[in-house]
Amino acid sequence: MFSGVDQPPPATLAQALAQARTRIDALDAQMLLLHALCRPVHERAWLLAHDRDALDPAAAARYAALVERRAAGEPLAYLRGEREFFSLRLQVDARVLDPRPDTETLVHWALERLAACPASSAPVRVLDLGTGSGAIALALAHAGRDASGRTVDVSAVDASTDALAVAAANAQHLGLPLRLLHGDWFAPLAPGERFALIVSNPPYIAEGDAHLGALRHEPTMALTSGADGLDALRHIVRGASAHLQPGGWLLLEHGWDQAQAVRELLQATGFNAVQSRHDLAGHARCSGAAGQAPEPARRRPTPTHAPATRRPHRAETPDRPLPHATPAKNHKPPICLQPATIRVFTNAEPAPPLPPRRPAPQRQ
Ligand SMILES: C[S@@+](CC[C@H](N)C(=O)[O-])C[C@H]1O[C@@H](n2cnc3c(N)ncnc32)[C@H](O)[C@@H]1O
Repeated sequence: MFSGVDQPPPATLAQALAQARTRIDALDAQMLLLHALCRPVHERAWLLAHDRDALDPAAAARYAALVERRAAGEPLAYLRGEREFFSLRLQVDARVLDPRPDTETLVHWALERLAACPASSAPVRVLDLGTGSGAIALALAHAGRDASGRTVDVSAVDASTDALAVAAANAQHLGLPLRLLHGDWFAPLAPGERFALIVSNPPYIAEGDAHLGALRHEPTMALTSGADGLDALRHIVRGASAHLQPGGWLLLEHGWDQAQAVRELLQATGFNAVQSRHDLAGHARCSGAAGQAPEPARRRPTPTHAPATRRPHRAETPDRPLPHATPAKNHKPPICLQPATIRVFTNAEPAPPLPPRRPAPQRQ
């Protein structure tokens, strides 16, 4: 049944699993069989209890095709069409990076920063650069409100319209608000637009890296960035200060061996409190830092001939967008892939949590 294996077609679920296990991992074989049978992925116990059930030819053909693709290295998430990330069920396919469990380290850190934001009636503004499936942005839109006690207003940028279409579909099915912008890193933002928190999991693998073969099913622009993998990280670190509110934070995911280089970039660019965070495997996976502290408000002499009027200092009104009379040359309005999916998600009902599952393959 499976190519390269001279075997009769499996008559039962147990036979199908046994044949598949000669080519792919046992857990993958179970997940894909459940998928081929149109059953939920958490029903592995059902599979074991029914392994003597007959496998109908249509399901057998679907299963054979899935096993073939998995054996050729296609990510399980693409085959199932979904991935669990931070308890959200995301739709994913070959247009976006398969979100990795390591990236939850960045989300946890971002939630800590949101929880530390000063109380205010204004929403906390968050920017996710290189949003892909929307994984980080949607996790923050979902959990961020609890962390900050304030409304979280998340903007997400990607240079790939394909990726933005996936992020828009995820935002819509999760009922979470997301402002999606198409373009190169900071370019689609309004001039002077500032955020309390900027997060990014940019491409960070060196072009020509030996691991890229194993990742060939994922978009190249989600993976590689220059000869040393640091081009995107350099660009983001250099551009972030112009878009951070006073005292705002920049948090970045990077390769397991890039923490020192990223911390040096942050230090050289004038960031404060530069630090790294470790992923579950113990690698320094994320680095981040605080932008410039709020300037102390200067006292002006009160004129004696008029009542004292007080203009609030910019640092006291961090969430109000700066006025901008002339749009920048490269500024674009939010994309309208499907107008109804942009900024229209007011029903913030959380998606049902999924049972925990094993981690995806590491990027590096
Ligand atoms: C490593 S993926 C991260 C995707 C998602 N944030 C995640 O963590 O699963 C990097 C993303 O950056 C996007 N990207 C690459 N170059 C870009 C650029 N110049 N400007 C904006 N986004 C870019 C890619 O399209 C991709 O979606």
